[in-house]
Amino acid sequence: MTANHKHKLVSLILAAGNGRRMKSDLPKVMHRIAGKPMIEHVLSALKPLSPERVITIIAPNVDSVKEHVLSVAPDGHFIVQEKALGTGHAVLAARDELAGITGTTLVVYGDTPLIQPSTLNALLQSRESHKAAIALLGMYPEDPTGYGRLVMNGEPYVERIVECRDATSAEKDIHWVWGGVMAFETTFLYEALEALQPSKVTGEYYLTKLVEIANDMGFKVVMEPMDVTEAMGVNTRMQLAEAEVVMQWRLRERALEQGATMLAPERVYLHMDTKIGRDVIIQPDVYFGPNVTVGNNVEIRAFSHIEGTVIEDGAVIGPFARLRPGTVVGEGAHVGNFVELKKTKLGKSAKANHLSYVGDTDVGEGANIGAGTITCNYDGINKYDTKIGKNAFIGSNSSLVAPVTIGEGAIIGAGSVITQDVEANALGVARAQQLNVPAKATEIRQRKRKNG
Ligand code: UD1
Ligand code: MG
Repeated sequence: MTANHKHKLVSLILAAGNGRRMKSDLPKVMHRIAGKPMIEHVLSALKPLSPERVITIIAPNVDSVKEHVLSVAPDGHFIVQEKALGTGHAVLAARDELAGITGTTLVVYGDTPLIQPSTLNALLQSRESHKAAIALLGMYPEDPTGYGRLVMNGEPYVERIVECRDATSAEKDIHWVWGGVMAFETTFLYEALEALQPSKVTGEYYLTKLVEIANDMGFKVVMEPMDVTEAMGVNTRMQLAEAEVVMQWRLRERALEQGATMLAPERVYLHMDTKIGRDVIIQPDVYFGPNVTVGNNVEIRAFSHIEGTVIEDGAVIGPFARLRPGTVVGEGAHVGNFVELKKTKLGKSAKANHLSYVGDTDVGEGANIGAGTITCNYDGINKYDTKIGKNAFIGSNSSLVAPVTIGEGAIIGAGSVITQDVEANALGVARAQQLNVPAKATEIRQRKRKNG
């Protein structure tokens, strides 16, 4: 999408509300969808419009919101709304910033994370083409509960918005509601904010009241229709869950379009930044955390949990694999059931197929990690690295006590506890010698019978 609105653009993100309905210690806009805080989704939607300035309205003493915004948008501006006296009051807090500015001010809510840039762009164009003081996004949800109802004056003109809690039963029957995004002519906004009064019923300043003020001043307010799913506002945990469902389907569709096969797409959880190649087969119940890149022709079997990992072409993962941050699974490598890899590079065609923990380890090409191998990388104080050479063979149920190096082509006997380096092509065995005593079993049995 290219931004083709003509006017200078300032954007305000409202994120200072109490979010009481979430029943949470976390600021509402920091609740995550597809692994990213809601506010980050809103910032991403604004970015393609190239606003000159993005100002986030935040509550006092919530550093997490500010820190997060700065981590993704270092040039972000902030205004603290000292008391959450309503959405109108939040915009009022930014009034001084708008003095002497022309163009458009786009107000978006931090709790509307599914909004798309193309929709915002259409809204900006609609305001410009209608020469309206306000353009707002309207939608027609099945259940309009909680949303501000749009009282129309013949489409596309809006006369006023009635908040759900203040609406009469006749007004509650209106299904067209406001989706939480408004574009203002900045000079109008600056003036109109001065006229904004708190609601007589709730004492809150409603941003939606500006629609009435614009009409009273003889300006136009227009509605641009939008898709219901994009406008979903998140006020409760239930709505957070619903928004997550919508986002997950968007991400799955993207992966499917790019050439992945999902046997049960509704049971694959993707992160916003998951990258999946072509001809990747994903079985049911796979979880992707942040920073996962999957190459081509990879198979990810059921019940695998993957974060911070690069999976190269042709690898086979799971079932029941756990790949933790810092892991690289090389081309054609296999990671089987109940295998956990952390900060580990598994070389090309290497295999760790059963019941193992391999951490802080570099595994060479073609090496085979037997069932039940554990790299003992932590002594309770520090962590240490393990190196396993090309084509080495680690026998089952071995403990490799790091720091330790197993040379290329070396073989480790099953059940060993390896504390010293093993040179290339050597055999390393570290376990008690086996003792076989002929007829001893018979003797023991006889003795026990007598005693009993
Ligand atoms: C609001 C609208 C409603 C619309 C709906 C769309 C108002 C009065 N109502 O209702 O018409 O249909 O969004 O989702 O605007 N905030 C502040 N400071 C405050 C209060 C709120 O920054 O003092 C922020 C919140 O953090 C939130 C956003 O503004 O991100 C919206 O506030 P919220 O309380 O969720 O409004 P809704 O009841 O959803
Ligand atoms: Mg809301």
